[in-house]
Amino acid sequence: MKPELVVMRRLAPETTMQRLAEGYRLHPLWEADDIPAFLESARGARGLVTTGSIGADAALIEALPNLEIIANFGVGVDKVEFDAVNGRGIVVTVTAGVLTDAVADLALALWLAVLRRVAEADRFVRAGRWPEGPFGSGRGARGRTAGILGLGQIGRAVAQRLAGFGVEIAYSDLAAVPDLPYRFMADPVALAGESDFLIVCAAGGPGTAKLVNADVLSALGPEGILVNVARGSIVDEPALIAALEAGRIAGAGLDVFADEPNVPQALMAMDTVVLMPHQASNTVETRIAMGENVLANLDAHFAGRPVPTPYREL
Ligand code: 8YV
Repeated sequence: MKPELVVMRRLAPETTMQRLAEGYRLHPLWEADDIPAFLESARGARGLVTTGSIGADAALIEALPNLEIIANFGVGVDKVEFDAVNGRGIVVTVTAGVLTDAVADLALALWLAVLRRVAEADRFVRAGRWPEGPFGSGRGARGRTAGILGLGQIGRAVAQRLAGFGVEIAYSDLAAVPDLPYRFMADPVALAGESDFLIVCAAGGPGTAKLVNADVLSALGPEGILVNVARGSIVDEPALIAALEAGRIAGAGLDVFADEPNVPQALMAMDTVVLMPHQASNTVETRIAMGENVLANLDAHFAGRPVPTPYREL
């Protein structure tokens, strides 16, 4: 008998969906109109496939008495309600490693887009305004300092890329990471004070909620640029809007928001802001690798082997 899985969302790589359907009996939640009836029919599910954006709430986890594994298509598990997971021996897996480069690349794309005013200049050209006069200057990178908030795998990949632009690196995290040439500053306000660019790469969740607040943004300063490829919850969004509107920071590149997919109108109206609809891991190659990772974790678990990429709480 194939193990049963609840799948929260149709995953983009079609091959992943096919292979899931070959190896497992699927209960696709996105097709359900009647949730109580769905949960009744899915009671036998031993696995749950979810995404970083969707997670798994306690009501769902508790409605699945046979649940053994939650395989997350993503690295962020801030939307998984661990109170319902802990104590039941449920394994949680994440797509660790396979999306690092894609997310770091997008952090750099957003950073450069704000620094060199790429999106704004694109709008300028399309609006036919070039013949009226020159566009104006962007800002340079070399010799400036980037503060990385959260020096995990993604933060380190961002640091390596920025170093190639001649940018100095400082960072803040729960503790200093040994054997790295970057300056550690425990306090995010102090980090922002030393930084021209603040790149948010930390995990979401209660420990980092609104870590980037009005004080951090003021410390970043009127020429400062904020980039967030982590979670919207880490930035106090109203404080960010206020700081941008008042010119307390220069601009922001944002892939993530407090209430996705809703983006505040105030951000959409600002030329100094570049917006992406939570795309950092979304390349064809990375999404295929993420799908393979989800399958590898599920297959290992149901074959009685250790899962390759368990989530490890910090
Ligand atoms: C995905 C993410 O976009 O890894 C994460 O935590 O947020 C992203 O990689 C997401 O999991 C897919 O919805």
